Order: sequence, then structure tokens, then C-alpha cells
Amino acid sequence: MEKNIYHTDVFANRHIGPNEVETKEMLDAIGVKNLEQLIAETIPQKIRSSKELNISEALSEYQLAGKLKKFAQKNKVYKSFIGLGYHQCITPAVILRNVFENPNWYTQYTPYQSEIAQGRLEALLNFQTVVCDLTGMGIANSSLLDEATATAEAMTMFYRQRDKKMKKNDADVFFVSHECFPQTIDVLKTRATPLGIKLEIGDFQNFVFHEKCFGALVQYPTTNGQIHDYKPFIEKAHENKSLVAVAVDLLSLAILTPPGEIGADAVVGNSQVFGVPMGYGGPHAAFFATHEKFQRSVPGRIVGISKDRFGNKAYRLALQTREQHIRREKATSNICTAQVLLAIIASMYAVYHGSEGLKRIANKVHTLTKILDTELKKLGYNLANSHYFNTLTIEVSQEQNAAIKSSALKCEMNFRHLPNQITIAIDETTTCEHIETICEIFATHNKLSAANIDFVNYQTTDVLGAFSRSSKFLDHPCFHEHRSETAMMRYTKSLENRDLSLTTSMIPLGSCTMKLNAAMEMIPVSWPEFSQLHPFAPQDQTLGYQELFEELEADLAEITGFYATSLQPNSGAQGEYAGLMVIRAYHIGQGQPQRNIALIPSSAHGTNPASAVMAGMKVVVVKCDEQGNIDVDDLQQKALKHQDNLSSLMITYPSTHGVFEEEIQKICQIIHENGGQVYMDGANMNAQVGLTSPGIIGADVCHLNLHKTFSIPHGGGGPGMGPICVQKHLAPYLPGHSLVSIGDNKAISAVSAAPWGSSSILLISYAYIKMMGKSGLKCASQYAILNTNYLKKRLERDFKLLYSGKNGRVAHEMIIDVREFKSITHVTVEDIAKRLMDYNYHAPTVSFPVPETMMIESTESENKKELDQFADALLSIRQEIREIEQKQADVEDNVLKNAPHTVWEVTASEWKHSYNREKACFPLDYIKNNKFWAYVSRINNVQGDRNLICTCPSIEEYEE
Ligand SMILES: Cc1ncc(COP(=O)(O)O)c(C=O)c1O
Repeated sequence: MEKNIYHTDVFANRHIGPNEVETKEMLDAIGVKNLEQLIAETIPQKIRSSKELNISEALSEYQLAGKLKKFAQKNKVYKSFIGLGYHQCITPAVILRNVFENPNWYTQYTPYQSEIAQGRLEALLNFQTVVCDLTGMGIANSSLLDEATATAEAMTMFYRQRDKKMKKNDADVFFVSHECFPQTIDVLKTRATPLGIKLEIGDFQNFVFHEKCFGALVQYPTTNGQIHDYKPFIEKAHENKSLVAVAVDLLSLAILTPPGEIGADAVVGNSQVFGVPMGYGGPHAAFFATHEKFQRSVPGRIVGISKDRFGNKAYRLALQTREQHIRREKATSNICTAQVLLAIIASMYAVYHGSEGLKRIANKVHTLTKILDTELKKLGYNLANSHYFNTLTIEVSQEQNAAIKSSALKCEMNFRHLPNQITIAIDETTTCEHIETICEIFATHNKLSAANIDFVNYQTTDVLGAFSRSSKFLDHPCFHEHRSETAMMRYTKSLENRDLSLTTSMIPLGSCTMKLNAAMEMIPVSWPEFSQLHPFAPQDQTLGYQELFEELEADLAEITGFYATSLQPNSGAQGEYAGLMVIRAYHIGQGQPQRNIALIPSSAHGTNPASAVMAGMKVVVVKCDEQGNIDVDDLQQKALKHQDNLSSLMITYPSTHGVFEEEIQKICQIIHENGGQVYMDGANMNAQVGLTSPGIIGADVCHLNLHKTFSIPHGGGGPGMGPICVQKHLAPYLPGHSLVSIGDNKAISAVSAAPWGSSSILLISYAYIKMMGKSGLKCASQYAILNTNYLKKRLERDFKLLYSGKNGRVAHEMIIDVREFKSITHVTVEDIAKRLMDYNYHAPTVSFPVPETMMIESTESENKKELDQFADALLSIRQEIREIEQKQADVEDNVLKNAPHTVWEVTASEWKHSYNREKACFPLDYIKNNKFWAYVSRINNVQGDRNLICTCPSIEEYEE
């Protein structure tokens, strides 16, 4: 690492685990002189970068804070009345401090290992309960990426539900009310086109359902605030066998009749208004609710209730056979990373406020809106909405519009300005003073003066009428028991304690890169200058963000060796989809619209085929050879066979088998020779940064998982960001946006609701790149490779390693094969995964990409001590397996089969096992210092899927 005398601290030294002494020991252990030699033996020479990254020198934490403060000062935090699905709201401090800013919550992984994830699974079940109760639907998932993509998921789910007759009639029309949010319509256009779905956009009151129409979408309340009675519309749809999705404002449903009660088939929206800052576009958790009969068609993750082996209630991810990691191109969606942390925050907001609190907030918002409505009418304005919740549409002349805009800006307020209309959306943070100021502004421009408003005794009339909600919601005790801050703090803490995160130990998940998420990277995300901006705020108020985006785009382009970057996709899978849509647009631009075959290696991540299908492509699987490399002959044959229709190859590099394939350039060449484009899945960029790049290798486009390589924490299953970087010829097609001017005139329409996706977490990756600097970034990749090769050295005598490169080196991850244990000892990969919990560890990635194996990724952030401890744990487990082999332990009653062991089990008066309690819980000494207890014992997966329960059950049901 470069040393600068003026830096009292070097961030890279904090980010990278091993110190100089440890580095030397590890290099010695694996038998190389230095890091350069290791890299030379690992990465094929032909693709190794010969240049330094053109990225600035590293900043210290302190310098970075100063730099970000300057960006912050260039952002203007005006009071937003823009609406369009994003509202200012209050994050209760107890949630901000204990969840949002708490690494125990934000450094967790997706809860696949349920026994050590019961806290977030409970919180997500609460989220699903909130969504079901408020929308009046039977089943909800545990979050989607944003409201616009959630509506697109409803559209595609309806499309898949078409009956035989509809399919025969080629029913391909989806009606969209023109009163839906414009960004939603934009995303729907993008998603509909490649699937051959035709959007009919118009007035729902005039729409006549016809045999081609399989579904419809309406907004409740509409983009301009009007509440319509959709019941007759839904009835007509159902007579036609069409399904109807309703996009809603979640808060409004505390006082409005839920769409489920008027027959909606799916209800979608954004839970941002439940205590999550707008963050200039995100992240926030979208939701998706539908009928129980569609449970197997729901996109995204669903949390369900099952039992552990002692019959205790236990949460787990349910019905995973719908998902991309199992069903691949036949999956219900490509969703992998979703918005877990934000769904948890929204659920906690509902837990803290309960139904009374939510009604109080909704009533406050609604009452202020009614007062404003009355006062503006008194001032002589025409207001367009007869029934509304929080948004008013005021008719104005062109001159008034411009003048009001300028006065509002002087008062640091943003309204939404349409031709001859202004819309104003009231929210939880709106005060009586704001209403007075708005009235004064409008009075001035109608040559009147605003009267004093007596807010306390104001008599408003009922504008909800028949739309008023009469049904109860959030009856479950959980939503009643945590009203005081003390109770709430203890509730969040009790859940947090059930989950293993990076705060306990390394999470060696292959393909997931669970590296350090440094505190300094996280802190600015909560600064109001970044968190409180509306995504459609005027661009002259967001100059700090714009500058930061420009630098980040340039840095990511440099790192990937590409020409341009789009920061819009808000997950890796969305990046894949966006990249493929860009390729599609390029082929169309070249006069080759028929190019729709995506070649995908059998080892690819499930999101690859699922995204390809969403982009309208046909998936052709390419074989892998015994070394886990692409079978180049098979690729050649298939590329040739589909020469005329070849769209692209999707390839992960280094491969999901953890190897830098020697033939990668040849592979790219084959694709190009046959008219295709190379899409590189950037999930494994942690082995490339500064050492090679997709550009050098010869790819055309790649996505980056900023929540892997670039330090955004995984949040227990999201948020993430999946920007794409492209070669020059693809740059004109990068996504645009209907409300914010970005992109070329050839740009594809939006892939996400917000122009820069989940903007506020881009700060994290920006901070990471700037604090690591050019040499730190390269060093991180070297250490990621060193750490995994060191682990290989420690483990290879006792575990079979599945693949390595030609010099016997692995990349930043490796696969150990545990299949051989099964025949004699009956020990499965699952048993090892669960036993690791007794050793305080999260399992490596299980059964991907090879069934019954474990993929281990150490990351650069772990030091030698931690790597050794993890290796000791695996070696100790290997010894436990040997004890079964040698008949010293019973095949059925052993520490592996019974893992994980809970505190209740080992402290119970009865202990029937053939091994002792100490062996069960403290098999190695280090565990005594910091024991992590699994909250439940092994969970019964089958039972959870057979009897799906995905909301908080009533107390009676618990007792049954
Ligand atoms: C190789 C690979 N590709 C794509 C993805 C999808 O990324 P995301 O979860 O952000 O959608 C993953 C996620 O784990 C992955 O490992």
C-alpha cells in the first residue's frame, strides 16, 4: 500500500483484514513470494491489466467526510409536496438508531439459513401482515424493488394466469389507467415490449374490456389525488376474465376502503411513507399482495411459518420453488436481492404506531389536505378532486403557474407543476405553518390575502364518504405491545439478537462478497441533504448528487474498462435485465430485431436465465466441462447453430466455479463472430478490480453488484444496486426516464421508478472507491484472492476441492465438495451448514452452482485470525464426520444431524444424546468468548410449504 505521511490513517489498511505479518505468513503458507506472484499464477497473463486504474488517490475517512459535506451543501433540501408516490415522513429515532444505522441489522445476509435469521424473518412476516391487512388481500411478499417494477410484476403475473381461451385468443393487452404515476407507465412500457404485451393507456371510465385484454392497472388515489370507485370497473374486468391490479398509497389505506374489499386481484405500492427517507429515489421496499390462490405465482420472496424439530414456531422463506435460484427461466420473476432492510423499517414503523397511530397519521395528513382544499377554494381557485386523501389538484392559468412556482421556490417548497395544474401532496411532516405559507402564496397570485386559519377548531366536511375504511387492521398483539420507546427498543434488540450478521463473524458466502461495510461509508446516507430529497426535485436543487453521480459513473466505467455507466438498475438482476434490454435495442438499431437467443452456461446464477426471459429472449444452455469451465466446443456449436438469431452470451467471470477460465477471450470472440454481444455478470468483480476488467476481456456490457464488490451492505436481503457499464456502441441505449432528462435519444425507457435507482446508497460505493483509491482497490482484489487461496491451503487435505485454475490456484472463491460423506455417514451439505451455526458461523453458499457442495468466499476484509478460526471450525466438523465414519459417533444421533443446538435444548434437564452438551455447543475454545445461539433448532421445510402461513397468525392459531 502506498504510504502518505500526511495521512494519519489509511482506510485501505482498515478495510483489508491481514496486516503485514499475517500477509507474509499466508504467502509463505501457500508458497509464493508476494501478492504479484500469486496473481500471476491465478489470472491468465493475456487478460491481466498492465495499467494502473485511472482513479484518484485514496482519501482518509476525514477527508472523505469533508468532500461529501461539500456535495451535501450543493443539495437543497426543500419541503417537498411533489408526491408521485414519494413523501417526506418521519423515521422514528428509535428505529433510525436501532435498525437503519445498526450494523447488526444492515450486515445480515438474505435469510436462507433460517435458524440464525429468525429476527429479520419475524420482522418480514410483520411486513407481510401490514401489507395484507392494509390492502385487504390474502397474501403478500416480503418486498420488491420499487412501485413501478411491482406493477410490472403484477402485469406479468396476470399474463401467466391467462386461461386456455385467453391464450388461444392471444390475449395480449394490458390496460393502464392514464392516471397512474408516469414513472410506472414508463417502466411498464419497458417491461411489456419484449414480452409482446400491448399496453392500452387511457381513461378507465371509458375503457371497454375486450377479449384481448388479460388485465388492467389503476392507481388509488390517482397521480393527481382523485379517489375513484373502481368496484364497477373491477366487476366488468372479472366478467371478461381479466384481472385488475391496484397501485396504492399505503398510508391512505389506514382510512380508505382497501382494494381487496372491492375485488382487486393484486395490490402493489411503495412502503416508503412508513418511515423510510425518500433518499432521492430510494432505497425503499415496494410490496405485492394478491389472492392466496396465486401463491405459487407470486414474484419475490415470501416468509412463512413452520416448526423446528421440537415443534417450536419457526420462520423460513416459503415456496422457494417459484424463485429464480430454483426455477431459472421458468421462475415467477428474476428477483433475488430485494429491499429487506427497508421492509423491516416499514414494518417497525407499523409496530411502533399500531393501527391507532397509523390512523392518526393518516387523519392528520387528510385533515390538513381538507383544510388546504377549503382555503384554496375560498381564495377563488378551482380544485379538481371531489374525493381525495392527501393530494390536491389546483387549476391555474399559465401565468399563475409560473408565478406560484417562483414564490414556492422562494419559500423553499416544491409543488408539482403540470400544464394549467398544480398538484400538492401533504405528508406526515407537513405542518400548519406550511399550509399557511401555501395559502399565502396562492392568495398573492389571485390578488387576495389569506385569512388566519384556526386549525384547532376547523370544521371540515367529509370527503371520503363511501370510501371510508370500516374494517379493522393490525389486530395482532405485536402491533399493540411496543408503544413506549423502551418496549420498542427492546423489541428491535430482541429480534436483532436472533440473527447472525458480520458483527459476529465472517460470512463466507460464495458469490455474495460479504465484505466490510465501513461506518464512514454508511454515515452520510442519513444526512438530510442526501436522504430528504425527492427523486423528481428540480435538478438545480440536487447538484451535489449530480456531481457525485458523474464521478461514480466515470470511476465504474474505468474499473470495468468500459465507456459509460447507467446507475438506474436497483439490483444485480435488474442490471442483467437492463443490460440485455440495451443489447436488444442495439440489435434492433442494427436492423437485426430477430436476435433473441441468449446462450447461458449451465453454471450461471438463476437470475441470468430469468432476466433473459424477461428481456424476451430464448435461453439456450451451454455445457460446462469437468473443470467447471465453459465447454468451448459446445459454445462454438451453439453459437454457430444460432448464428442468425444470436443475441448474447451471459457469462460470469471469474466463473461461478471460482476459476479464471483461460479461454475467456476466445469465448468472447466466438460470440462476436456470430453476431452476438457478451454480457458479463459482474457478481465476481471482487476478483477483477484493478487486476483485469470486462473491457480488457472483451465483453460488451456488465452489471456491478454494488452490494457485493463496492461495499453496500446486504441489509438482510437488500437493498442493492446493479448499475451497468457498457462499451461505446451500446452507450446510446442506456436507460432514460420520462420525468427526468437523462440518456440519449435512443435510450430505452426506464427500468426503475427513479432515474438513478436507489440513489442514497450510491454514496456508500462512492465513499468506498474514494477511500480505497486506485491502489487500495487493486489491493482489495489481491487480498480477496490471497485469503481464499490461504483457506484452500488450510482445507485442501481434509476436503475435496472441486475446481482450480491451471496453476492450482482459485480465484476469490472456491467450492468444496462434501458429497462423498453422504454414502457412509449420511452427512449432507445441509448438516454441515447447520453445524457451522454451533461454531458461530454462517454457512458458505450451499448447493450453488454445484448441488451438495459449498462455495466459500472469504473477502479481503477478514484477517488471518478469522480465516484460521473458520478453517478450524470446518476441520473440526470434518473430524466429527470422521467420528461417524469410524463408528465412534452414531449415524443418526450425532452433532451434525442435530445441529444447530439451541440454548433451550442444552440447558434442558433431559439430555438424551450420545455426545455431551459441551461437544454440542462449545466444540472449540474460541466459541466460549462470544457464543452465538441459534434461536430455533433445525426447521422443517416441507411442513412450511405444505401449510403456507405468511402473516402473523392470531393468538388462537398459535395455541392450536
Ligand atoms: C453470480 C450472480 N449473478 C447475479 C446475482 C443477482 O444479483 P442480485 O441479488 O443483486 O439481484 C447474484 C446474486 O447473488 C449472483 O451471485
